[in-house]
Amino acid sequence: MLTRKIFEEQLEKTLDSYHDATKDLIYQAKGLRFCQGLPLCALIDYYDIDLMIESGVCRGMSTEIICSYTKDKPVHHVAIDIDHYGKGVFQSAIDRLQPQYPRLKFLSGDSKLLLPQVIEANKHLNIAYLIDGPKFGPAIEIARKCMEYDNVKFGAFDDATKETGYHFVDKMDSCFFYTDEKWYYEKYGWLDDVKHDTYSKTEKDPVWPNKTLEAMLEKRRGSNYPQAGGLGIVINGPFEKTTQEYITGPIAKEDWPIVPEKYRR
Ligand SMILES: C[S@@+](CC[C@H](N)C(=O)[O-])C[C@H]1O[C@@H](n2cnc3c(N)ncnc32)[C@H](O)[C@@H]1O
Repeated sequence: MLTRKIFEEQLEKTLDSYHDATKDLIYQAKGLRFCQGLPLCALIDYYDIDLMIESGVCRGMSTEIICSYTKDKPVHHVAIDIDHYGKGVFQSAIDRLQPQYPRLKFLSGDSKLLLPQVIEANKHLNIAYLIDGPKFGPAIEIARKCMEYDNVKFGAFDDATKETGYHFVDKMDSCFFYTDEKWYYEKYGWLDDVKHDTYSKTEKDPVWPNKTLEAMLEKRRGSNYPQAGGLGIVINGPFEKTTQEYITGPIAKEDWPIVPEKYRR
């Protein structure tokens, strides 16, 4: 059974290699944040995941975070997008990431249909999924289908936060963890403060305004909804249910988690 203690120990075991694999990545605007990727990668290790399936690629931040972590592991990755943004956004992620990761495969289309199909074709593998588009109700609908398969070990949802009304993952009985749990933010929130370049330094994207990661974080933390962009995790199997305290915002700058000496540069 996945207990909190095991989960916390696994985060620590995964931390150094996660930090090494992601510290030089260029941040893609609107993408998954670096403190959201750690629990995903920790559970990929814990459940010995063979296949990660992702819905909602966009510019590929989440794809890149996971693939750079699993690069030297026997983990396959299927990344699905319906290309809502158009303007070559999805194609730019394919062009950037495909040459770097031979075990990464992109699919174009609606994950409501495609995600269960990929699972159905891979019942012999340990599978996990990440849904970052569609969001909320439609994401839960897809997740419920995925959870019917015993070989699906866990799932994750972006924009799932306890506060701010985005606590939709509570609707799944299997809800295990949110990144806006207070202890998690205090211990690992610094992962977002490691200095990353942003895509906007190198590229002008008509879809989003130019912003640095620091500027985006500052705006988020200063707003009434600093936790938007949290990650929720569901477990398909036995796990310890706990009651947690969640962060609420705005969070004053002096209370932001500080990057530990070991990880500074
Ligand atoms: C916020 S973006 C994803 C960001 C990305 N995960 C990252 O970290 O950079 C949401 C994406 O979900 C995709 N999307 C929305 N609904 C979808 C669906 N039903 N099937 C597949 N992709 C979908 C959109 O095309 C969009 O590119």
